[in-house]
Parts: sequence; structure tokens; C-alpha cells
Amino acid sequence: MSPSPEHKQSIKGVILAGGMGTRLYPLTKATNKHLLPVGQEPMIYHLIRQMRTAAIEDILVVTSTDHMGDVVRCLGSGEEFGCTLSYKVQEKAGGIAHALALAENFAGGSPICVILGDNIFEYSIAPYVGGFRKQKTGARVLLKQVGDPERYGVAALDEHQVIEIEEKPAQPKSSLAVVGLYLYDDQVFDIIRAIQPSARGEYEITSVNNAYIARGQLQYDVCVGQWTDAGTFESLAEANRILGATHNRILEHG
Ligand code: DAU
Repeated sequence: MSPSPEHKQSIKGVILAGGMGTRLYPLTKATNKHLLPVGQEPMIYHLIRQMRTAAIEDILVVTSTDHMGDVVRCLGSGEEFGCTLSYKVQEKAGGIAHALALAENFAGGSPICVILGDNIFEYSIAPYVGGFRKQKTGARVLLKQVGDPERYGVAALDEHQVIEIEEKPAQPKSSLAVVGLYLYDDQVFDIIRAIQPSARGEYEITSVNNAYIARGQLQYDVCVGQWTDAGTFESLAEANRILGATHNRILEHG
């Protein structure tokens, strides 16, 4: 029998819920952005539930020093969600890749599924995680057509693959935003060690994804259904509209 191309080790989950949440001030004065209500639940429940739809059982939550206590009080051991939760503190908001670097020991060489704590998906992420399980090596990202690409990482494609990602470009080369769901093999931590901070002083996840492109190892899917981040007042209202409509239920692909 030929060896299975699927990852031998099970995928571990990483939810990045650090950062300052300054764009939602004063809502984030007393609590973490990811604990704000979306529909009938705290925002971060959605990310744990998404991981569970993809059968991910071992999940690390990275959050800031200020609100770690609130986050642990809210989520506990993970028993309520049928998973095991671990926690790690990001002392300073040094960027998404900086937060992800804290997950190296937790990952322990396993492939990882990373979700930004403020991303809301109408449909389950399971098919994208499934696609990654079949990939031998490399990374996988998720793209979504949007009306305001300059707010996001933006992907430029040729007829087969992603050829470049630009972070918040003034003149986007496409309207395909890179969604905050990233699937990585164990090369990711060496890649993070090699990147430099951007002009705004952050270790950008876009630099990590561009390093995988340079290695010819970045694949992608296009996101089905509605998606938003919840990092601004407008997008938080949109997130409430999406999950309010399903009473926080995540839809399965038909
Ligand atoms: O939502 C998708 C977009 O998210 C991508 O298209 C962009 O490429 C990516 O850079 C990111 O852009 P944002 O400007 O929306 O990222 P933001 O700074 O709002 O951070 C998003 C989440 O990442 C936040 O809810 C918590 C986590 N984070 C962020 C930073 C800066 C951390 O855990 N630590 C951090 O230091």
C-alpha cells in the first residue's frame, strides 16, 4: 500500500486573541475584544466552535496580559466545548506573527490551524482544514472577495496560485482578501524567526505567507458564505448580523 499523503500527526488549533482592540475603544476599556458579545455568545466561543467543527481537539489561546483572567474565566478547561484548552500570554501586541511564535512549544512539530480571534464565518471551516490534511507540506490560506480590500492582506493570483500578498495596500491588485484562517506545517516557526518587522513595527502574518509563496508551498481555498472580522464598530455589527441570524449556529456545507 502506498503511504497516505495526509498529515500523520493531528492538527492542533491556535486562536490569536491578543492585540489592543483600540479601534473598539471604549468597549475594550474593561474587557478583551474577543469577549464582546456576538449574537448570543462571547466572540471567542465562535472560534472554539469552528475548531470543533473541524475535529480539532487541542487548542491554544494566546491573549494579552490585561485580560487573561477574564478569558480563562470565560472558557475554562475547554470541557464545555469537548476540547482541551491551553493559554499563553502575549506581553506586547507585536503583531500576529509575534503572537503565533508563542505557540511553538504547544505545536511540538504538529501542523497547526490558526484563527484570528475576531474572524467570524457563517459556514464551517472543516473543508479547508480537510484540504490541508491532504497536503504533504506547506501552508494553506483562505481568500474572500470583498468590497474594501485595502483593509486586509490582499492576494494577487495567476491562473494557478497565489503569487503575492500585500498587507493593506493603498492600491490593491485584486479584491481578494486573505481571511484570518491559516494552516501551517512545522516550518512556520523557523519562517517567523527569519522575518523582519513591517513599517508599522509589527511581525506580519503576511510576511509568513509570502515566505511560503517563495518556497512554492502556499495553496488556497475560496471562502464559502459570509465572513467578516469584528475589529471595527461597523464590522462588529456585521458579525452580530451574521451570527444573530443563525443564533450562533455554524452552518454545514450542503
Ligand atoms: O481579518 C483578516 C485580516 O487580519 C488579514 O486580512 C490581514 O492580513 C491581517 O494582518 C489581519 O489584519 P487586521 O488589521 O484586521 O489585524 P488586527 O491587528 O486587527 O488583529 C487581528 C487579530 O489578531 C486580533 O483580533 C487578535 C490577534 N492579534 C493581533 C495583534 C496585532 C494578536 O493576537 N496579537 C497581536 O499583536
